[in-house]
Amino acid sequence: MYREILKKAVDGAFLDKTEIAVLLAPPDEAAEGELFQAAQGLKRELFGNLVNLRGLVEFSNICTRDCLYCGIRKSNSKVTRYVMSMDEIVHGAALAGEFGYGSVVLQSGERSDAAFADLVEEILFRIGELPYKPGITLSCGEQSLATYLRWRKAGAKRYLLRIESSSESIYRAIHPAETTLAARKAALERLKEAGYQTGSGVMIGLPGQSTADLAGDIDFFRTMDLDMIGMGPFIPQADTPLGKSGPDLPGMAEQRLKLSLRMIAVTRLVLRDVNIAATTALQAIDPVSGRERGICAGANVIMPNVGDTAFRKDYQLYNGKPALDENAESIRTQLIGSLAAIGEVPRFHEDGDPPHYFRRMANAGI
Ligand code: 5AD
Repeated sequence: MYREILKKAVDGAFLDKTEIAVLLAPPDEAAEGELFQAAQGLKRELFGNLVNLRGLVEFSNICTRDCLYCGIRKSNSKVTRYVMSMDEIVHGAALAGEFGYGSVVLQSGERSDAAFADLVEEILFRIGELPYKPGITLSCGEQSLATYLRWRKAGAKRYLLRIESSSESIYRAIHPAETTLAARKAALERLKEAGYQTGSGVMIGLPGQSTADLAGDIDFFRTMDLDMIGMGPFIPQADTPLGKSGPDLPGMAEQRLKLSLRMIAVTRLVLRDVNIAATTALQAIDPVSGRERGICAGANVIMPNVGDTAFRKDYQLYNGKPALDENAESIRTQLIGSLAAIGEVPRFHEDGDPPHYFRRMANAGI
């Protein structure tokens, strides 16, 4: 039965949630190998052996939210809060442009005050003046439609806002009461309305999360008609309520990593022409080849850090975040080498827009 459903997926037939759940749990290693091969095969059919790179700038860790899993949650008093200076932020974006990365991803803790909206707009204007201007992706949380529109107008074209889990009960278990799944979904709708290439994703291996829940997440991505997906394993953070019960038992992290790779593969087969990131959390669990394993499971995007190393220790969303003291240039050199080892090539000086976005626009008659 597994292989029948896999064939259906490869042929592009519609899979219901039950079938997606079956695909997420291959019966043996051979079947799992076939899943990865099918997903990477489809990735190569759609994008060749090219991987899109995005330079990541974590420009502020100030956060108004108190998510139970996250190391930069509001009530974690152990982190020193920062906002990079305008010059530091623009320098990161300039590096991304000079390195030939398709875009710069500006990520921060969640704030929705007026000064923050002004700051992000100013950053966008300044990046717009660069000689090698990269495309701009924002990852700055839930905002009003007016703010999303304003930032779009100022030059941002992509936006990442993870749903974290599309299951109502899991979402509620890992967030404080004032942070709701309904509000998150509504924010994703506003992003699409504002015309962004829209991305989302979930954490994998959360307490109480079943294969059926994860199948529900993939179905959610499909229903929301998303253009980009970024997801990775949940990693306990010692200074958070969800990390308090202590670090993972031996083998657990690797299990979450494997489950994450299966999620990437099945998401590729179900959603097809979207961009899928091999995220940093994969690398946190397997520093040598986590992200490369993500590419071999069907992902086509990697987001190397281009921000100043001085800030990295205060942006520990989870323990074991890699490349804490590595500068942007050595990260780039290493990545070119490790991609070559799996037969993949970085795609330099191209935006790498997700083809799905253009299909979505054409369907809407835009
Ligand atoms: N483990 C894994 N991912 C995490 N994130 C935050 N905390 C953790 C954690 N402990 C992810 C969330 C968030 C993204 C920026 O980082 O999905 O959206």
